[in-house]
Amino acid sequence: MKSDSMFGLWALLLATPGLALNFTVAGGQIFTPGLAVVDAPQPGTPLGGDQIEVALDVSTNGRLQLPPYPEDLTTRIHNITIFLYSYDTGKNFTITNGTAGVNNASLGDIMFSEPGSTVKHVKWTWPDCLVGDGQPRELDTARGIYNISIRQNFQLNGNSHYTIFDLPISVTNRIEERQDRPSCASLENPLLTPEEVDYEGANNVPVMFAPGDATTIEPSLSGGGIGDGDGLGPTKPDATAADGLGSGAVALDRMGVAGWLSLASFFVFIGAVL
Ligand SMILES: *[C@@H]1O[C@H](CO)[C@@H](O)[C@H](O)[C@H]1NC(C)=O
Ligand SMILES: *[C@@H]1O[C@H](CO)[C@@H](O)[C@H](O)[C@H]1NC(C)=O
Ligand SMILES: *[C@@H]1O[C@H](CO)[C@@H](O)[C@H](O)[C@H]1NC(C)=O
Ligand SMILES: *[C@@H]1O[C@H](CO)[C@@H](O)[C@H](O)[C@H]1NC(C)=O
Ligand SMILES: *[C@@H]1O[C@H](CO)[C@@H](O)[C@H](O)[C@H]1NC(C)=O
Ligand SMILES: *[C@@H]1O[C@H](CO)[C@@H](O)[C@H](O)[C@H]1NC(C)=O
Repeated sequence: MKSDSMFGLWALLLATPGLALNFTVAGGQIFTPGLAVVDAPQPGTPLGGDQIEVALDVSTNGRLQLPPYPEDLTTRIHNITIFLYSYDTGKNFTITNGTAGVNNASLGDIMFSEPGSTVKHVKWTWPDCLVGDGQPRELDTARGIYNISIRQNFQLNGNSHYTIFDLPISVTNRIEERQDRPSCASLENPLLTPEEVDYEGANNVPVMFAPGDATTIEPSLSGGGIGDGDGLGPTKPDATAADGLGSGAVALDRMGVAGWLSLASFFVFIGAVL
């Protein structure tokens, strides 16, 4: 259900349709501004089923050891929280905030799940209001396009960072009704405006750990309006075979002074762990 303020926000978003979101991918992985690497899902994927599964490599592809970390390790992941939110539907659900909810409706600290595994398979049962099949049809449906918002609190060579990486997906595949689905209400948080979230303040480091042959993709996600049927059907990302753009070039494009500094620390980090 959209409130008036949501409509304001919505109008604002519709007014900026050209907003391009680029993803740095290599070998099927998506690189983030942080130490975690996303193995799945791919940006723009339609999802459904019983659960969503987000697979994250928290070892920066084997370069960083797993916690508990030795005390003197200056590069480490403090914690990762994940939310599923949408300015289209007005929802913001907790996938994990470090504290497990009843029956793992929201998940505990993922850094300590699957001990010994560098890839954490974050499995979260879809809550009740996402039940359905296909594109959103009703005005008040919670189904539609979402971002998996991956927030990393980490330290790189002694410097603390907090980054937000939003991965778009669509909740448009079949999700079956089940008695034991968590209620949406029990997982819901207030939806903040982009200014309140302060993406710019958060993301003071670029995508750092992509290999040189990474390419940039821009998934085609139509912002679409609620109810306009196919407007919400994101397709598979079109790989823009990237015009030879390596991740380095992408990072450089976006980088300010902070970026350069962190790129410098990145080399120090790689030097230290290799
Ligand atoms: C995304 O990539 C396209 C093509 O590579 C480029 O034209 C555009 O400026 C990029 N956008 C952002 C926000 O980096
Ligand atoms: C994550 O780590 C930061 C930095 O240590 C800390 O301030 C914050 O409370 C932690 N959050 C969670 C959910 O553990
Ligand atoms: C997903 O995140 C991007 C970037 O943070 C934002 O521009 C976009 O509006 C979000 N999409 C939805 C459906 O909320
Ligand atoms: C919740 O998840 C944790 C970690 O994966 C697991 O050890 C625990 O058994 C789960 N609890 C329930 C009630 O499913
Ligand atoms: C974690 O998320 C759940 C579900 O949204 C919420 O009930 C709980 O208060 C949150 N805990 C913390 C410490 O933020
Ligand atoms: C979603 O809720 C969490 C927890 O309250 C908050 O940290 C996050 O910024 C919210 N995201 C949006 C887009 O409002």
